[in-house]
Amino acid sequence: MTERKAQLIVDGKPESVELPVYESSLGPDVVDVRGLISSGYFTYDPGFMSTAACDSDITFINGSEGVLLYRGYPIEQLAEHSSYLETCYLLLHGELPDAGEKLEFENNIRYHTMVDQQIHQFFNGFPRTSHPMSMLVSVVGALSAFYHHTLDISDPEHRMLVARRIIAKMPTLAAMCYKHGVGQPFMYPRNSLGFAENFLHMMFGTPCEEKEVSPVLARAMDLIFLLHADHEQNASTSTVRLAGSTGANPFSCIAAGIAALWGPAHGGANEAVLDMLDEIGSESRIDEFIARAKDPNDPYRLMGFGHRVYKNFDPRATVMREVCNEVLEEVGEAADNTLFRIARRLERIALEDDYFIQRKLYPNVDFYSGIILKALGIPTSMFTVIFATGRTPGWMAHWNEMVSGPYRIGRPRQLYRGPAKRDYPAARITAKAS
Ligand code: SDX
Repeated sequence: MTERKAQLIVDGKPESVELPVYESSLGPDVVDVRGLISSGYFTYDPGFMSTAACDSDITFINGSEGVLLYRGYPIEQLAEHSSYLETCYLLLHGELPDAGEKLEFENNIRYHTMVDQQIHQFFNGFPRTSHPMSMLVSVVGALSAFYHHTLDISDPEHRMLVARRIIAKMPTLAAMCYKHGVGQPFMYPRNSLGFAENFLHMMFGTPCEEKEVSPVLARAMDLIFLLHADHEQNASTSTVRLAGSTGANPFSCIAAGIAALWGPAHGGANEAVLDMLDEIGSESRIDEFIARAKDPNDPYRLMGFGHRVYKNFDPRATVMREVCNEVLEEVGEAADNTLFRIARRLERIALEDDYFIQRKLYPNVDFYSGIILKALGIPTSMFTVIFATGRTPGWMAHWNEMVSGPYRIGRPRQLYRGPAKRDYPAARITAKAS
């Protein structure tokens, strides 16, 4: 295949440096600008709007068509036919497991769900009122203290062991963050339960009584984890990759990803959506909030709307909307549950409004997930913890993809606009001397 090249022309004068063009298997091809520095230029792309930071085989998004593929499989098909753990295997290994591989993986996860008893002591230091994300980011970062003997990141077996350990322990730690806040004893994982059912057992069970989890709610929880499992080079995944590029241990990299996810512009949006729907309170106030979101002088934004990549429906939001109906029905909430009714009407109004149409602002993954989680009895403050739990296989798959091959430390440059070189004022030197 002929080598494709791009050339930089500045003020009509072609620069000598040639920039190779690489072909993607899906989506935009890329211009390799690494040689640009030799011509004395940097690229400039705050927010990385059109920058490919790496090459990857894991997840593909077509934002204009609302397509999301995990290792080539459409998210809608995985949501219908797969499970969260099968999807974790797919993201980590690149192929769906056969029956034997699936059983081994599920058992291996099952037997890593318990955390070291010392971890329980960490929670004693947190106020009961701590935000669950502040506890999660702390205890996940601390996990490396317990596994230093299996953290050789050049060893593929260590890398896969870490991936399985952290996928298995996240729901246990997530439930502990919740239990600490409500003053109830931590529940141990139950090996007889499925992944999502086990999580709901650790969240809502107590030593006094078991939590009966209906199959519909367990499936909805599993689906919430699956739909959040990965999403290409989003802010938190890019954070995990950048931390990993320094050779930091994977637990620290995941803790960095959790910290980045917490922001309301990213994974913190699901909590912000519920706060917004609660604040709207009734359908009669929707127009007031839409007006605020459109007001250029008001920084207010409709939480759960818009996306850096999707300029069409977020396919995850479409699946979530269907699950909403099922869960509300199962929990006996009127299908026209107030929050759901406000959300549906807000979605309809926004999608007919020119401001949103022109900016291609559609509901994203966070718009409906909060309503499902609330119907499952999960408090709003735990929503981003659930997002982090679901996203863990994606973070680990990207970390593993990077460190298993040649990689360099990530070190962006800048457009410097500060003062030119200047000397320390003599007058100050003299004054100091006297
Ligand atoms: C996630 O990247 C990922 O993949 C993330 C994620 C994942 O799975 O990892 O998908 C998860 O983070 C989903 C997004 C959750 N965030 C929210 O729902 C918060 C609300 N959304 C916005 O903050 C915003 O849409 C972002 C942060 C999601 C995207 O921001 P961009 O791409 O930088 O877009 P922008 O801020 O430049 O907005 C473009 C225009 C602006 O108007 P103009 O200046 O052109 O007039 O659209 C407007 C914005 O003001 N706009 C909104 C809006 N989002 C964008 N106006 C009102 N309400 C909104 N929600």
